[in-house]
Amino acid sequence: MTLSYMPGFGNDFETESLPGALPQGQNSPQRCAYGLYAEQLSGSPFTAPRGTNERSWLYRIRPSVRHTARFHPVSYKLWNTAPNIDDHELALGQLRWDPIPTPSEPTNFIAGMRTMTTAGDVHTQVGMATHVYVLNEAMRDDYFFNADAEMLLVPQDGEIRVYTEMGIMDVAPKEICVLPRGMVFKIEPKDGPSRGYVCENYGAKFTLPDRGPIGANCLANPRDFKTPTAWYEDKETDCRITVKWCGRFYVTEIGHSPLDVVAWHGNYAPYKYDLTTYSPVGAILFDHPDPSIFTVLTAPSGEAGTANIDFVIFPERWMVAEHTFRPPWYHRNIMSEFMGLICGQYDAKEEGFVPGGMSLHNMMLPHGPDAMGFDKASNAELRPQKLSGTMAFMFETRFPQHLTRYAANLDTLQDNYLDCWSGLKKRFNGTPEGILD
Ligand SMILES: [Fe+2]
Repeated sequence: MTLSYMPGFGNDFETESLPGALPQGQNSPQRCAYGLYAEQLSGSPFTAPRGTNERSWLYRIRPSVRHTARFHPVSYKLWNTAPNIDDHELALGQLRWDPIPTPSEPTNFIAGMRTMTTAGDVHTQVGMATHVYVLNEAMRDDYFFNADAEMLLVPQDGEIRVYTEMGIMDVAPKEICVLPRGMVFKIEPKDGPSRGYVCENYGAKFTLPDRGPIGANCLANPRDFKTPTAWYEDKETDCRITVKWCGRFYVTEIGHSPLDVVAWHGNYAPYKYDLTTYSPVGAILFDHPDPSIFTVLTAPSGEAGTANIDFVIFPERWMVAEHTFRPPWYHRNIMSEFMGLICGQYDAKEEGFVPGGMSLHNMMLPHGPDAMGFDKASNAELRPQKLSGTMAFMFETRFPQHLTRYAANLDTLQDNYLDCWSGLKKRFNGTPEGILD
């Protein structure tokens, strides 16, 4: 199957998989072509300002009321939702984990979700959760929608195929995809067991950050975001839809596929993005801009410049700054930082932070380069240097991130993470030169 996509971010798209399926000049004809039902999916309140008003019109084989029967509660104990505080006994600290292993038993995307942290409160639609998914089984007749959150998926190992109501996306490592709140989807691995990171965004949708003095280009450019064209399955088999709603899970059984949208138009839609198309901007003479210069997507909180979530990447780039300590500086931050590594090495931590691993530097906890990285960068010859083959990312939020019991008790939690800084010795002796190595 060849997939096709439409370029642009937040565009008003239109697409049909059968000729004439999409009404022209109106949304709700008395009778839709092919006997389809017209249905609106609202991603913002009806009265939201134009800049944030999002909805799509779906023309489908059955209306969504026929895609839910009576709900039954179902439990996914490792998928947690904020507020989820006091869930463990682990003391405060900077934390780092090795990758979560892929399970040996059959595990699909829903069962394979492992929550690491939660922040904010789903009931007031603020905050977020970070997760890792580990899966080795397709959702063949299983479908899912998340009423709690928009979902940002960051595959790390293995490509996945994401079937949504509005089309199909293939998403490989170094790509991401975003599934709007309420969108019905299923996921299958394309080539064996897969692992990736997920950010659940309880708040306002991700959007592109303003560029300020950077101007009209660079960072994530709108044309590099891809929304799938319409696709449907006309399948009359026993199917299940699982719903996540205010942190609880419910399942309903129906006799057909809910992915039955033949045509659609609107601006509330899933999309994917290739992180290697991000055009980084950075220091070209000395010092550092803040890491916000690497923001791909930002989810605003209502307070200007104070994001509910920033999705930030650390991609391949040239380091050219003169008389400068080039890795990230030491810092403490009011925002809380969850990091993952998709591939390669991260420049502040050449060891210990491995692809598929994670770190958590929570509100106001100090962090920065390890002792080895400090020594190396302090003594390096400052020629232009390319950081190649690397892609790290950060889910950063204005809210403190609370560990789940699962994350606190994970076997892959590194006991010795703090030791990475223990070699940072006192270099002060009252002389301007300090103590040299
Ligand atoms: Fe940081």
